[in-house]
This record gives sequence, C-alpha cells and structure tokens, in this order.
Amino acid sequence: MSIIRSVFKGCGAYLPEKVLTNAELATCVETSDEWITARTGIKKRHIAAEDQTTSDLAIAAANDALKAAGMTAEDIDLVIVATATPDQTFPSTASRVQAGLGMTSGVAFDIQAVCSGFIFALTTADNYLKTGQYQNALVIGAETFSRILDWEDRTTCVLFGDGAGAVVISAETGSGTSTDRGILATQIHSDGRYNDLLYVDGGPSSTKTVGHLRMQGREVFRHAVTNLASVVRDSLAVANMNMDDVNWIVPHQANKRILDGTARKLGIEADRVVVTVDQHANTSAASVPLALATAVKDGRIVEGDVIIMEAMGGGFTWGACLCRW
Ligand code: UT7
Repeated sequence: MSIIRSVFKGCGAYLPEKVLTNAELATCVETSDEWITARTGIKKRHIAAEDQTTSDLAIAAANDALKAAGMTAEDIDLVIVATATPDQTFPSTASRVQAGLGMTSGVAFDIQAVCSGFIFALTTADNYLKTGQYQNALVIGAETFSRILDWEDRTTCVLFGDGAGAVVISAETGSGTSTDRGILATQIHSDGRYNDLLYVDGGPSSTKTVGHLRMQGREVFRHAVTNLASVVRDSLAVANMNMDDVNWIVPHQANKRILDGTARKLGIEADRVVVTVDQHANTSAASVPLALATAVKDGRIVEGDVIIMEAMGGGFTWGACLCRW
C-alpha cells in the first residue's frame, strides 16, 4: 500500500553568540557550578542579545535547515514555529519568519506547547503533508526564555537558555511499512490539571504583563520520566517496532538526570542518547531540533537511522515522534 510520508530533507540550528557559564551565574545568584552540574548536567547556556528576538533566531535556524535541504524559502508552503516566547502577542512569530525569509505565499502559524512545542509542530506538519494539503514544511522550535526568567530565582534561572532549531520535511510516497524514510508515528498528549507545576505568572488577558516562569521542579521531574517513557513505548507500538529498532533517542534537554532516568526505564544504552543539555541548557521548544541538528551535523545520525524524539513541558504537554532519517 502506498502512502504519503513526511521525509526529512535537512535540519539547522542557531545559537546566540553570548555564552553564560555556571560560574558567571554564581556571581549573580546563590548557586554554584557544582550544584548545577550535579543536579542538571548543565555547564553553560546561550543568551540572545538585547536586540535579538525569537524570530531572528528562528530565521537563522530556518536558513541553515533550507541550506542543508538544498532548498529555498520559495519551495516551502507551510511554516510552523513552536515557541512560548513570541516576538509579540500577535501576529505570530511564524508570520515574521515567513516575511524574514522573503516568502510571499504559503501559510505560517505558531504552536504553543512550551517544551513539547517542536513535537506538536512536527505532528501538525506531518498531518498536513499526509493529507496532501501542503508539500514542503519548515518546522521550527525557537525560544528566548532568558526574557521570561526571574533572574533572582535560583531554582529556575540556572536551567534555561536561548536558541532555535529547524527541519524541512517533504511529502513523498512511501510503502506504508517501517522501512520507509520519514515520520513513522507521532503521539501527543496534554493534561491541563498540572498548570500550577510549570507556568508563567503573567499574560495579556490575566495580568497584562509577560510574567516570569515558575516551576515546582521536583514534581515536574517525577512526571517527566514516567510520561516520556510511556509515550516513547506507545509511538513504537503504533509503528510495530521496539526499542531494539531505534538507533538514537533525541530527547528534550531539560535535565541530564531525566535523560538518564528515561533511558534506563526504556532499556536503551546511554551512548544512543543525544545529549546537548550540558552545552545549551533547556531551550524549551528549540531543544529537540537543536539536539537533532547537533547529531546530524557531527555525523552520528545518518540516512536510514531510526530516531525517536520526545519532549515534555508545561501544560502538561508531552509527545514523541518516531522517524527514519
Ligand atoms: O522543560 C520542562 C520540564 N522541566 C523539567 O523537566 C525540570 C524538572 N526538574 C528538575 O530538573 C529538577 O527538579 C531541578 C533541577 C529543577 C531541581 O533539582 P532537584 O534535585 O529536584 O532539587 P530540589 O528542587 O529538590 O532542591 C534541592 C535543594 C533545595 O534546598 P533544600 O530545600 O534542600 O535546602 C533547593 O533550595 O537545592 C536547592 N537549590 C539550589 N541550590 C543551589 C535549588 N536551586 C538551586 C541552585 N543552586 N540553583
């Protein structure tokens, strides 16, 4: 049976120039490199310049992905930006990206699922491509979380960073089996009962402000490992595959201990887990495509490899995307 598959054509990344190390952070809040490293695995993060917005980061990552795909913005008919830190309340950051790339046709919109945003955006794009409505999609995760951090709250400000990652996917005919290249299964979930464990204490309709990120880290941690392991297993089941078929797990980079805990639960060796949290910290919706771009560019992920991407974030939201690169 022939079906439409969303096949990866290229991926790209952008990280702002400014790097903030744990040691530098320890001069601003009561923390230490030892504590941050031991509890999270984070060593440093990138911070956007004053005049850099989320769309600037997104455009740079998008251009990198287009170059890798050997395509131009004119080839793209769908742009989805996953972000929780938009340039403006409206219009969407995606429409700014569309304009920034010089596109005058196609459709562009944002998706808001915080740290799971890229998985939600990829799932959405995959479904549009599979219906035949669009042919080539640019899916971007981009964030400037430095703008919503309370820099006096050591329990949160040490955890996050800024950045953007992007992929280009194209509709191609597949056989309908797991030997196809492209997206093989996606699973996304949300459960709004957990708002108070991870949220921003502001917004246009509630406080008329942007607000700051608030998190009950230990509680989020507890849910993360369980939800992530379960959504990965469910995605594999949909494609009739198992963990032995997977070459790489590309997880949301929130905390090295969450990555290790999830890998242990799934029975996958640590050397098949792509880890960038030490270099980038948690970049929310950008973290999965940034990790993906890192492992593709350094040659670990090669054509034909089976990859599972997963993420969990505020909402709660969580999801996974199983694909063959
Ligand atoms: O991407 C969205 C999903 N987000 C996540 O997945 C984050 C999930 N949570 C986590 O990664 C971890 O829970 C944290 C890294 C946030 C915290 O690690 P933890 O091992 O759960 O630490 P804790 O919150 O239980 O805090 C332990 C101690 C506390 O002191 P007391 O009460 O034991 O005296 C904190 O006040 O560490 C203290 N602490 C710090 N100490 C130095 C908290 N933050 C810091 C800090 N530096 N930056």
